Amino acid sequence: MFYHIKEFDYTYFGGWDMRQDNVEVQKKQTELQAEEMLEIMFDFAAKIAHENNLNKLHLLMADLGKKLIQADRCTLWLLDEEKNLLWAKVSHGLARIEVPADSGLVGYALSTGEPVVVDHAYQDPRFNADIDKESGYVTKSVLCIPIRNDEGHLIGVYQAINKLTEQGRFTEKDVKHLSLAASYTGQSIEKAMLHVEMIETQKEIIFTMGEISENRSQETGQHVKRVAKYSRLLASLCGLSEEECNIIELASPMHDIGKVSIPDEILKKPGKLTQEEFEKMKTHASIGYGIFKGSKRTILKAAATIAQQHHERWDGKGYPSGLSGENIHLYGRITALADVFDALGTARVYKEEWSMEAIIQLIKEERGKHFDPALVDLFLRNLDTFLKIKSAYQDGHA
Ligand code: C2E
Ligand code: SIN
Ligand code: SIN
Ligand code: SIN
Ligand code: FE
Ligand code: FE
Repeated sequence: MFYHIKEFDYTYFGGWDMRQDNVEVQKKQTELQAEEMLEIMFDFAAKIAHENNLNKLHLLMADLGKKLIQADRCTLWLLDEEKNLLWAKVSHGLARIEVPADSGLVGYALSTGEPVVVDHAYQDPRFNADIDKESGYVTKSVLCIPIRNDEGHLIGVYQAINKLTEQGRFTEKDVKHLSLAASYTGQSIEKAMLHVEMIETQKEIIFTMGEISENRSQETGQHVKRVAKYSRLLASLCGLSEEECNIIELASPMHDIGKVSIPDEILKKPGKLTQEEFEKMKTHASIGYGIFKGSKRTILKAAATIAQQHHERWDGKGYPSGLSGENIHLYGRITALADVFDALGTARVYKEEWSMEAIIQLIKEERGKHFDPALVDLFLRNLDTFLKIKSAYQDGHA
């Protein structure tokens, strides 16, 4: 197929007009006055400049374009150079559409770096009607404006479809106005793209480090995944925002990264550690903190806090700092509970796995001692959900 939709979301096509005669049924509009146009530009310029979320930016740009040049639809296509495709986000929800970077009218605009204006798409050999076929929409007039970043490098295409005025076609003025909008917003778009890339980079680093610490301690990858999921669940039960839930899910797998510098004789010792060995083992918390403490990145900063504080106890008897109560960061308190819940339920070189009754018994006993009492209450009230995660991420399963 010419294009495909990931995680298909019906609001995508549902949001579009499914009728074949969609263009005819639209009320004809008249061209905007310069003043109205300025108003639209100013209104959107501010919103767009402050939008870091690439998905929301797509929708803002679509709205801006539609209003500015009275198009029925407007799509911001962004170039993924690695995969050589253009992708777009055309609705709220998950749907993301992709087309090869070198095909169709948008592909033509991208390859030439020049605007493309077409009055009758079906008479143009460059037009690809696959999306129309899929949606039942009928494309007539098309306008494509290439978008460049500050260095003049092409980063995408701004595409408008079906002019809603009597004439039904895009004019030189539309080209000028949409180009203006594209050049005003090119910088914001690139900023948002860099932001996304930075987050992706952080995720990659984190994933790699999680793997390193797993291999080192000979624990299964499932342990860090479960701790991540339990931590996220606790965060969400605490009422933390979606963004913070994401942060804690990504950062908590690294709580034990400091174990990379614990010698094998200690880390893999089949029996109980001596006092001295345990003192050495305890340094994994501050070593982990040391690895991330210099970072200004949100996720890595959270990872630093979690590595440092995941062995603190609510009663102040933990390590390395003996912090107590809410002096321990919530991320640390959350990961502590998630980590112990999982560690007890798993066999280690030095111990058998515990029965679920014994684990729950211990967590109840440690309410207000090892663990934040509020978190224990949330945990016990939602035990079913925790057990579902446990069975979904069993060792030996994907
Ligand atoms: P870990 O195995 O990931 O355990 C994390 C935490 O879960 C422990 O932190 C402890 O709070 C709890 N936990 C795990 N197993 C047990 C258990 O059998 N009984 C009880 N009551 N709690 C348990 P802790 O104690 O600070 O230990 C930190 C890390 O030190 C452990 O991480 C493990 O890597 C290592 N470690 C602790 N004790 C021993 C031991 O006797 N032998 C060996 N070889 N390693 C140990
Ligand atoms: C194109 O114009 O080639 C992209 C397909 C579309 O408009 O959705
Ligand atoms: C295409 O040109 O490939 C499709 C354009 C459109 O859907 O408007
Ligand atoms: C790990 O080293 O992968 C995690 C070990 C733990 O949390 O006990
Ligand atoms: Fe630890
Ligand atoms: Fe752990």
